[in-house]
Amino acid sequence: MPEISENKAFKALRDWWAEMGVEADTGLLRALETAPAPARTEAAPVRRKARPSLDARIEEARNLAAGAADLPALKAAIEAFDGCPLKEGARSTVVYDGVPGSAVMVIGEGPGAQEDATGKPFVGRAGQLLDRMLAAIGLSRQTNTLITNVNYWRPPGNRNPEKEELAVCRPFVDRMVELSAPKLIISAGNVPTQALTASRSGIMKLRGTEQAFTTSGGVTTALFPLFHPAFLLRRPQEKSRAWRDLLRIEQRLAELGGD
Ligand code: URA
Repeated sequence: MPEISENKAFKALRDWWAEMGVEADTGLLRALETAPAPARTEAAPVRRKARPSLDARIEEARNLAAGAADLPALKAAIEAFDGCPLKEGARSTVVYDGVPGSAVMVIGEGPGAQEDATGKPFVGRAGQLLDRMLAAIGLSRQTNTLITNVNYWRPPGNRNPEKEELAVCRPFVDRMVELSAPKLIISAGNVPTQALTASRSGIMKLRGTEQAFTTSGGVTTALFPLFHPAFLLRRPQEKSRAWRDLLRIEQRLAELGGD
């Protein structure tokens, strides 16, 4: 195997830290860089436990989800589940916040840095904007809304969760919808919208439309794709379209008897 130079190794370490959102201690890195290299010894091979197959992990998630009789039990089951590789790099398992049994459930993409640090979904800048958007139509996580995600662990560098990572979380998402039984689901952004609707279209096409979400247990709920608040922070000119979509959600919720 070709030797990796010490400088390259430190650069890789620094880049990896940056990707994980950790500020590198440059003083410490410089001291390490100039320290004499330790004498090489034969390292004992590290034996990692092989991860069960994707099918086996999905099956385990299904069994755990089916065994949960209420939302606190489901939260405990998700926290105990080790079948999503993202868990290894995350500090917290971020499950839900808000009021179980609410008429509205917001489903986002997955935790970011602030959510990973606090264990609660949507608490960073995007989360604060989400709270203001919900308040505009009389919704709040303190009284009448449950907030969750399609993935419960922060992906490194805040990348999008991958298909397999979403697949192992999916039984829990379905069970949460069945246990909380919202009248209306808001999917915040492209990732949950594509994960929860069978549509190949993205958020740009689907926002403002009514879709249907059906769980593996056969429960169907109205679903409204909405721009992700993080997208609105980057593109404030899109807020007027989001506002229109919120008014449509408010109206549909009243029709569904959920106000
Ligand atoms: N973005 C999301 O989609 N979910 C969170 O919980 C936080 C930010």
